Amino acid sequence: MKTPARASPEVLILEALLAAGGSPVSGVALARQLGVSRVAVWQQMEKLRAQGFAFSAVRARGYRLAKLPAAPHPALIAAHLRGLGHACPVTLLEETDSTNDEAARQLAAGRPAPFAVLARRQTNGRGRLGRAWHSADNGNLYASFAFRPRLAPARMQTFTLWMGVNLCELVANFCGATPGLKWPNDLLFAGRKAGGMLTEARMDADQIRDLVFGLGLNVNSPAGGWPPELAGRAISLAEHTGAPLDLNRFAAALLGRVLLAYDRFLDGTFTTGFAELWHRYDVLRGRPVTVLQGAHRVAGVALGIDDEGALILRTANGRTERFRAGEVTLEKNP
Ligand code: BTN
Repeated sequence: MKTPARASPEVLILEALLAAGGSPVSGVALARQLGVSRVAVWQQMEKLRAQGFAFSAVRARGYRLAKLPAAPHPALIAAHLRGLGHACPVTLLEETDSTNDEAARQLAAGRPAPFAVLARRQTNGRGRLGRAWHSADNGNLYASFAFRPRLAPARMQTFTLWMGVNLCELVANFCGATPGLKWPNDLLFAGRKAGGMLTEARMDADQIRDLVFGLGLNVNSPAGGWPPELAGRAISLAEHTGAPLDLNRFAAALLGRVLLAYDRFLDGTFTTGFAELWHRYDVLRGRPVTVLQGAHRVAGVALGIDDEGALILRTANGRTERFRAGEVTLEKNP
């Protein structure tokens, strides 16, 4: 765990109030903790009130959090994240073309990594194979995490798969429902897409110079809110579980998990049992599938992945083929 660096006063106030778990925190204690006057604390709380927070004053005992904004709020995410023992700069944008593109631009401009870019909506949200990612301002998460890993390019494939396994564990712990993984980058609930990952990197000669891990996760969008082309094919966590999630707490847990997973990926400890872990969530294993690679179409039964993250297929003539890329369609069981 990293020791959180010094944070802004609003983050520290929120962190203290969240840590109190509903008990009041005195203005004097907050002022002492922040190293400022009580008036300065009160001014910060006024600022937060204007952003959708409500605080109730408990006579002679202090303040407690009475209402949190439902929409993503950077200071609230940072406060939750500090509570988890992490610190990572988070930029939250009202709108951007693509958080992956924005993160790449910031990396190119020299912003120190790691950092995260979140947006309420994207005007050019992108998926794999040049597809568009539906990115309305509807309570879903559009997030990109930027790193400078200095890795061999060949390790990118396992990076995305490793992140997928971590996301499944996180979602299962957070909302009690376990998603499935469809190789290489889809998170599913009941055969419908709940999330997609898009990892993009810039290379030096033989090394990844910088890497952006993008995640679109359908968190709180309401049932029936999808455009016609996605109706019946996409689903949100809230739709699946029947209850909306606390988006700010979830975003912080996600960030914490991604940071931990990244560290484990770099130090190599993740490789132990990785393919087995993937198989736990794999929705393709043992099922008839078709893999499309350019104009090459191969049908067979999916057997899982190998240690390099390639999809293994047993074809009709009994041969085993491995795919490092491609588009997989799940066929009906014969
Ligand atoms: C896919 O399923 O093909 C991957 C979808 C990835 C979408 C996310 S949303 C945040 C980030 N910004 C983008 O433009 N794409 C990724």
